[in-house]
Amino acid sequence: MMTPMTPKKKKKTAPKRPKPIYLDCAATSRQKPPQVLKALVDFAQNVGVSHGRGAYRAAIESNELVFGTRSALAKLFHIQRMDRILFTKNITEAINIALKGYLKPGDHVVLSGLEHNAVIRPLNKLKAERGIEYTIVPANATGRLNPYDFEEAFKPNTKLVCLTHASNVIGTLTPVAEVGALCAKKNIAFLVDTAQTAGVVPIDMQAMNIDFLAFTGHKSLLGAPGTGGLAVSAKRDLDSLIEGGTGSNSDKEEQPTQWPDKFESGTQNYWGLAALRAGVEYLLKNGVQSVFRKEEALTQRFLSQAEKIKGVKTYGLLSGVTGGRVGVVSLNVEGMDPSELAYELDEKYGIMVRSGLHCAPLAHKAIGTYPIGTVRFSFGPYNTDVEVEKALKALREISQKV
Ligand SMILES: Cc1ncc(COP(=O)(O)O)c(C=O)c1O
Repeated sequence: MMTPMTPKKKKKTAPKRPKPIYLDCAATSRQKPPQVLKALVDFAQNVGVSHGRGAYRAAIESNELVFGTRSALAKLFHIQRMDRILFTKNITEAINIALKGYLKPGDHVVLSGLEHNAVIRPLNKLKAERGIEYTIVPANATGRLNPYDFEEAFKPNTKLVCLTHASNVIGTLTPVAEVGALCAKKNIAFLVDTAQTAGVVPIDMQAMNIDFLAFTGHKSLLGAPGTGGLAVSAKRDLDSLIEGGTGSNSDKEEQPTQWPDKFESGTQNYWGLAALRAGVEYLLKNGVQSVFRKEEALTQRFLSQAEKIKGVKTYGLLSGVTGGRVGVVSLNVEGMDPSELAYELDEKYGIMVRSGLHCAPLAHKAIGTYPIGTVRFSFGPYNTDVEVEKALKALREISQKV
């Protein structure tokens, strides 16, 4: 008997995805120098133990890693005292330690209208719980801030000024040195959020009169997620946010008072610190200025052409204004929701960008894009001119169809 013939099934081939282009460097640096990955794996494979706890050889190598990381950061940011560099899991935690460890009931805080939720949310909690009050200094539609507006906002009970070094929505740099000088004159503590500038813009904690320098390891410092920190000037004291084992003063049931132990309870992220140290050493060797120049060239190339595309609206400083921004550009395509645009860029062109409010509703209020938000393109040292041109081509095609 003959068996009935079964029709041959056609093999379905998945549609070919375009080669991915990562333009979300403001969120995190996806590509790392090979030295960073090697350092992480080397530490994990060959050392892999905690610091400050044991006397055996590997534990001493771990001590060396922690010391070396602080030392590299001190060089990069011109930090006076290494014992005042506190490691955290990211900049959000660093900012929380500064705000919650420093502010007392009744204190007044001045902050810019470009701050991230990492600043405004803990401040609102402190407002509810400790009765602190704050004043927001508004930015104009290009993200520019006038340092004298900060001085105007000072009150007799102003204890702290919070300022992001660059907007994570439109990239505009802020007048950190000028505001720092005003704070120093009045002995007001100065907290700077360097999430978008550490590793891209030179930062001098002493010359800029910064009291609390908060940084994150996974963005332009080229390290791993789960690392960050807070550098504190010798002028300021802080309460700890958590207490526990530090490997020091173990005979005492109270938290040690010496820095950094007071703030670094529990086992640290050594794998992440190994990556962070390698990232910072890479930047020290190659120069932060060269990263800035590379990102500025890519940004200018992108922005100067994006501005000319019919139906595209860019926000922030216009192209041609050099030296005033980092590699972060926000735009919208008329008639299109930002999330729709970001989806199409990814789906059809393999271009990864971020849409929405970027955890910075204040900045979107300043530029007039709240609550819809924008699509953010952000460039890093590994991006190329070819990738910028591909992004522009995609934008042209999409905006023509709308
Ligand atoms: C200006 C600014 N502050 C704070 C943060 C929070 O960074 P992290 O998630 O590393 O704590 C970011 C990152 O998105 C940022 O851009």
